[in-house]
Amino acid sequence: MKQIYIYKRFERFWHWSQAALIIFLAITGFEVHGSFHIFGFEQAARFHRVASWALIVLIIFAIFWHFATGEWKQYLPTTNKLKEQILYYAYGMFKGEPHPTKKTELSKMNPLQRLVYLGFKLFLIPVTIISGILYMFHKTIDANDVVVVEDIPLHGIAFWHTLGAFLLMVFLVVHVYMTTTGHTPTSNIKAMLTGYEDVDDEDGEGEIKIAEKNNESKS
Ligand code: HEM
Repeated sequence: MKQIYIYKRFERFWHWSQAALIIFLAITGFEVHGSFHIFGFEQAARFHRVASWALIVLIIFAIFWHFATGEWKQYLPTTNKLKEQILYYAYGMFKGEPHPTKKTELSKMNPLQRLVYLGFKLFLIPVTIISGILYMFHKTIDANDVVVVEDIPLHGIAFWHTLGAFLLMVFLVVHVYMTTTGHTPTSNIKAMLTGYEDVDDEDGEGEIKIAEKNNESKS
């Protein structure tokens, strides 16, 4: 077993702050929705708006980072070993079979993760954010009598926003479960905290060189 440097500093910061913001937005959002009572409606709505701006700023930085570093290529979908990966999660891993794909610095996501995260970035997050922005300006703009968002019925906006919120919660539960399917139940979470991941020795020399290179120039 050896260690390779997989998740860079900004990536880890982005990952955990995005997770914290989404969970906080879910708590305040579902309170606005009327599902439970923690902060009180007014306060929950205020917190929800502040956190949503923080998420938007964070995502703008993350988009910039993905393009500036070329990391966006990690999300290019592939069908290579996709079937093997699905079969592995469906029953292979319960029988102790080895992972069908190897994690390296240049390819840290398996084919199924690529597809799911691409959908997350291109569909789920945009639907939730765009409907959230329309929601936000629907109310403000109504008051200021600006027409743009007034034309879209509020119940339609609320529907898409709430659907996005539900799907994000489903994603969160599945995502947290999937993190436990690494070498040990906590190894993937540790990797996202420290940046380093344990991989099998037979994965080759390449990763060691990459890890050394990255140790010199951690970004
Ligand atoms: C940038 C992202 C987001 C923006 C701009 C946004 C904006 C809003 C706004 C303006 C409202 C109406 C309440 C109010 O007037 O303050 C709302 C409601 C809500 N938000 Fe968000 N939100 C965002 C992200 C999220 C996320 C990530 C979740 C959950 C994971 C979420 C869940 C909800 C829920 C459940 C409601 C109640 C919907 C209803 O019952 O009509 N929001 N959001």
